[in-house]
Amino acid sequence: MNVHEAIKERRSVRAYQDKPVPEKVLTKILEAARLAPSARNRQAWKLVVVREAQIRKKLVEAANNQQFVGEAPVVIAAVGLTPNDIMRCDIPTDPVDVAIILDHITLAAVEEGLGTCWIGSFFQDKVREVLGIPSSYKVVELMTLGYPADSPRPKSRKPLNEIVFYEKFI
Ligand SMILES: Cc1cc2nc3c(=O)[nH]c(=O)nc-3n(C[C@H](O)[C@H](O)[C@H](O)COP(=O)(O)O)c2cc1C
Repeated sequence: MNVHEAIKERRSVRAYQDKPVPEKVLTKILEAARLAPSARNRQAWKLVVVREAQIRKKLVEAANNQQFVGEAPVVIAAVGLTPNDIMRCDIPTDPVDVAIILDHITLAAVEEGLGTCWIGSFFQDKVREVLGIPSSYKVVELMTLGYPADSPRPKSRKPLNEIVFYEKFI
């Protein structure tokens, strides 16, 4: 599978088979995250990989009761270690760095026949508490990972001419 195929195939998966992700496959996907670029190559992030059902259940509540968070065999919490770090362009660094690693994960997962879903609807303090994350760090996103139990739907996206300007912002 080439990158473009993986990008086309990736979609949010909100129903998962009750089937574990083999250790080797999981490690391969995490390796894709490890190789991601980061501002000044700081790599100022950690991933908490949750496989235990009891902890995933607690994450359901922390994720605003999104039930599929507990059904996915793996939930990844992506933690930014420098929430106050702002780039010269006046944009926070952690969310940008973490978005890249998570996108690597989504695409590497597609190649392995796995599905993912970004989870931004969660309570920061609750997730920190469940996973024992210090209050000086911030969970940027959660991500579910597992074998899909649903079928793809057509993608709804704006056409290119609505989102791209050439030379100047119009
Ligand atoms: C930053 C971010 C946060 C998101 N949070 C959630 C979420 O909490 N729950 C959910 O079901 N989907 C969530 N999504 C998934 C989006 O709804 C989804 O990506 C979008 O509708 C496009 O659909 P697709 O991923 O199937 O292409 C999130 C996506 C992103 C990028």
